Amino acid sequence: MDERMNTKLEVLTKDEEANQKIYEAAGIILRRGGLVAFPTETVYGLGGDALNPWASARIYEAKGRPSDNPLIVHIADVKALEELASEVPQEAYTLAEKFWPGPLTMILKKKECVPKATTGGLDTVAIRMPNHPVALELIRTSKVYIAAPSANLSGRPSPTKASHVKEDLFGRIDMILDGGEGEIGIESTIIDLTSPIPTILRPGFITKEALESVLSKVVVDPAIDTITKGYTKNTDASLHPKAPGMKYRHYAPKGDMMIVEHQGDASICTEKEVEKIAQLLQKAKDAGHSTAVLATEETKEKYPLADHVLVLGKRNEPQTISSKLFDILRQCDTLGVEEIFSESFERSEEEYAIMNRLVKAAGGKILLVE
Ligand code: TXA
Ligand code: MG
Repeated sequence: MDERMNTKLEVLTKDEEANQKIYEAAGIILRRGGLVAFPTETVYGLGGDALNPWASARIYEAKGRPSDNPLIVHIADVKALEELASEVPQEAYTLAEKFWPGPLTMILKKKECVPKATTGGLDTVAIRMPNHPVALELIRTSKVYIAAPSANLSGRPSPTKASHVKEDLFGRIDMILDGGEGEIGIESTIIDLTSPIPTILRPGFITKEALESVLSKVVVDPAIDTITKGYTKNTDASLHPKAPGMKYRHYAPKGDMMIVEHQGDASICTEKEVEKIAQLLQKAKDAGHSTAVLATEETKEKYPLADHVLVLGKRNEPQTISSKLFDILRQCDTLGVEEIFSESFERSEEEYAIMNRLVKAAGGKILLVE
């Protein structure tokens, strides 16, 4: 890898003519096997031509990603399903109709044309139609199916701003398209349609309940449930997640992170957590450690001892939290804090996906308080 590669930064504006020129230039890069990072409604993707094995190899290299971890192929038209998948079950069309474009990725049996370099050696392929004008326009003008993992260095929090991509990948890829911040902020829900019962391999903003509104039954990969509920619960920690990417250590800030959780009546949970975090802050201060608290709008005033109070969002508006989460985990590194304490959230609906990311960032460390 030539570390001194010239990475072009292009900002998309209201000037449609200028934008068109940018899309054309990006399309040329993609068709030649180069790499273009682009915004989606979830996180930024690091795009390459999904049908070109060399392009996929370059994606792994630029991210420093283990090559057994498959990429998601982004499409702009439902017809592409038949181009990429050897079998398209009725459920796929039902889900596409309801949730595409949007933050849902489907796993299907792959066709020959999809190289194993893109699928991490698997016979299945992950496909998603993103709901973002820049992503859709890039796929359409380039006429390329775009393989794109999140545009971060492997292990770091996924990027929700062009500046995050720049931080991680400047000098390693050809172009970064800046299209502002994604609205959702955590990666797409992944559903495996090749298993007998549709299985969620990665929780996201499209919840199990939402999927069950159109499919009769959906299950969550038990290994994901184990991680999300915390290793301290009575679940089998020897389970292995089915999505290869879910097994890696992920999102973790450099400082020591811990989630503080009180289980039970939601109205007293937060109060108990705030109390415990205040005690932990005192201890950290006594030890001379710098601290940050991941708090909410409702509780941000309650941590006078913290060096930094980072506000995730509003408790009753999970999207305010998911859209800020990765930026805040990155801020912990920028601030260089040594101890990080986070409040916890419910494990239902959208908050399930938020807890999944938080628990991974904390390396499974949850302190249960009475
Ligand atoms: O929201 C998103 O999905 C973002 C944006 C850019 O679209 N992309 C993203 O990609 O998060 P990435 O590569 O960071 O995560 C892809 C996940 C990994 O956990 C990978 O193991 C899983 O999808 N995956 C991909 N193909 C798979 C397959 N054939 N079978 C099982 N899991 C698969
Ligand atoms: Mg990723």
